[in-house]
Amino acid sequence: MGHIQITPSILNSDLANLGAEVRRIGSADWVHVDVMDNAFVPNLTLGLPVIESLRKHTDTPFDAHLMIEDPDRWAPAYAEVGCGSVTFHVEAAKAPVRLAREIRKQGARASMALKPATPIEPYEDLLPELDMLLIMTVEPGFGGQKFLDLCLPKIRRARAMMDKHGIETWLQVDGGVSLETIERCAEAGADVFVAGSAVYSAADPDKMVAELRAAAEA
Ligand code: DX5
Ligand code: ZN
Repeated sequence: MGHIQITPSILNSDLANLGAEVRRIGSADWVHVDVMDNAFVPNLTLGLPVIESLRKHTDTPFDAHLMIEDPDRWAPAYAEVGCGSVTFHVEAAKAPVRLAREIRKQGARASMALKPATPIEPYEDLLPELDMLLIMTVEPGFGGQKFLDLCLPKIRRARAMMDKHGIETWLQVDGGVSLETIERCAEAGADVFVAGSAVYSAADPDKMVAELRAAAEA
């Protein structure tokens, strides 16, 4: 298992002040940017031009989570505008292996996401193609939803597969991660933690990043 990383999602931050909002989480390992197209999920957020201009406002790397149709067409461009990690959903990808390779070719880490009802088993042999696997712990589309405990066994199975193959793929969880749920995720084998509302509803978001990190490391 890799070292613990905290990746706050800016979805629930003040979206009219993104430059300032990303600077409030200086101790985060990554900034998690949720891209939604109102087709793959019933919500619309932001895309390439906003990310390109936000890139200049922080040195913290960007972790783009693409909840969009046709990631085969769009994902490599997120690497080109400076995202250090690009996650596509396997449910939307036409050729996940080719796509992961293209993202890597653009110099970013390639990551694949699974919705709560998508099993990991059919993708076991793809894991070496990925730098990170994202297991969603809510249905994607909105921040502030309740953590789904039913996803924990899948996290455990994914971690066991990675151990079996002896690979260094990071295992990220996203959705309902808070001081209340992060230990369960870490215990199941996750090592990269997205937290949106938990961080941005805190009085001091950067202090919450530290608290989440301490809880996951415990
Ligand atoms: C949901 C997004 C998440 C969201 C998490 O579809 O992918 O990244 O911002 O928000 P919380 O942590 O509030 O569940
Ligand atoms: Zn996300």
